Order: sequence, then C-alpha cells, then structure tokens
Amino acid sequence: MELMELLRTRRTYRRFDGRPVPDEVLSDILEAARVASSGANRQPLRYLVVRRPEQAAQVFAHTRWAAYLPPEQGTPAEGERPTLYVAVLVDETTAKQAAAAVDAGLAMSNMTLAAWNRGVGSCIIGAFDRPALTEYFGLPDHLVLQNLVAFGYPSHKSFLEEWNGSPVYFLDENRDYHVPKRSLADTVRFFDQTD
Ligand SMILES: Cc1cc2nc3c(=O)[nH]c(=O)nc-3n(C[C@H](O)[C@H](O)[C@H](O)COP(=O)(O)O)c2cc1C
Repeated sequence: MELMELLRTRRTYRRFDGRPVPDEVLSDILEAARVASSGANRQPLRYLVVRRPEQAAQVFAHTRWAAYLPPEQGTPAEGERPTLYVAVLVDETTAKQAAAAVDAGLAMSNMTLAAWNRGVGSCIIGAFDRPALTEYFGLPDHLVLQNLVAFGYPSHKSFLEEWNGSPVYFLDENRDYHVPKRSLADTVRFFDQTD
C-alpha cells in the first residue's frame, strides 16, 4: 500500500474475525518495534507477546475499550476479540523516564503500521488494570507495563470524518467506526504566516 494510504487507513480497530495473526506478520510487528527510534538510543522497551487463546482471554479481561461508547457497542464481544497482544514494557534500569513514553509511542506506531501493511488491525490500549496484569505477567519491579497493543483481522471498517467540535467517534448502522479528525487549518500555523 502507498504510504499515505497506509497512514490514513491504519485506524483503531475494536472488533476482529477470530483468525490468528500468522507468525510472519508477528515477525514484522516485532521487527518494526526493534528498529524504532529511541531517546539517546537507550532502547529501554521490552515486549511480551501473548498469543495463546486462553492467555489472550485473561489479558482481555483486564482491558477497557472505546470510552466514548456504551460497552455493548464499543467492547468486543466473545468471538470478536483480539487474538494477539503485545505488551510494551519499560525496563526502568535503562530508561530515562520522559523519553520512555515517547519511545513507546514510536514503537507502537511502527508495530501497528507494520501490522496494517499486512492487513492486521490493532488497538493501542492505555486503559487497563496495571496491577492485575503486572501480577498475571509476573513482572519484576524494574519492568513497568506501559501499554498494550491488541491485534487481529478487523471485522469492521473505520472512516475519518471532518471535525465538528467533538472528539467523540461513533458507529453507523453497519457498526463501522467514524472518527473525527481536526483539520490542518485547525492544527497547523506556518511561522512565516503574516495574517
Ligand atoms: C495512547 C493511546 C491509548 C489508547 N487507549 C485506548 C484504550 O484503552 N481503549 C480503546 O478502546 N482505545 C484506546 N486507544 C485508541 C483511541 O481511542 C483512538 O486512537 C482514537 O479514538 C482515534 O482513533 P484512530 O486511532 O482510528 O485515529 C488509545 C490510543 C492511544 C494512542
């Protein structure tokens, strides 16, 4: 896919068709994370891959979905759930605190784009029960769970919409997502502009 097309269509997906993510795609996802830029090149991120169905179900139980929607619309039901998670961990023995969050963002962007390039959709998850998952994963104190990224083959579409003053995304009659984005006119000012 052409790069700008890949960027425009790499949206958040929250319902999946249950097919497992093939190992070759997982390899791309992890390689994309590995080569991401990192503040001072410290590379404090570690990745925990969850791909067994029973383990994915445990992880799902500690995640929260689509805060703007009622759960029956936004939370994937049984049979629609992600088949793969990558947990992004920060090794605090190597991290510079502020840079680690930026590193994680860059790595997750790379991972989700590499996945989408192979037709695999994703949802970055920041709303999860950190203590419960830290315990479930058996993480030592120096490994802090930063984010999760959920993956699967999407069973819905997602469309960009013009900004109408609200960040709230919504579903249409086909349960496809519509996601408002601010315009460049709203977000960009050229420093050489005189008006
Ligand atoms: C840092 C971050 C945390 C997020 N956490 C969640 C989450 O916990 N649950 C969820 O359903 N979506 C989550 N999202 C997805 C956002 O809601 C989504 O990116 C936003 O609605 C815009 O949609 P888009 O990704 O298709 O542009 C998160 C996204 C980011 C970047």
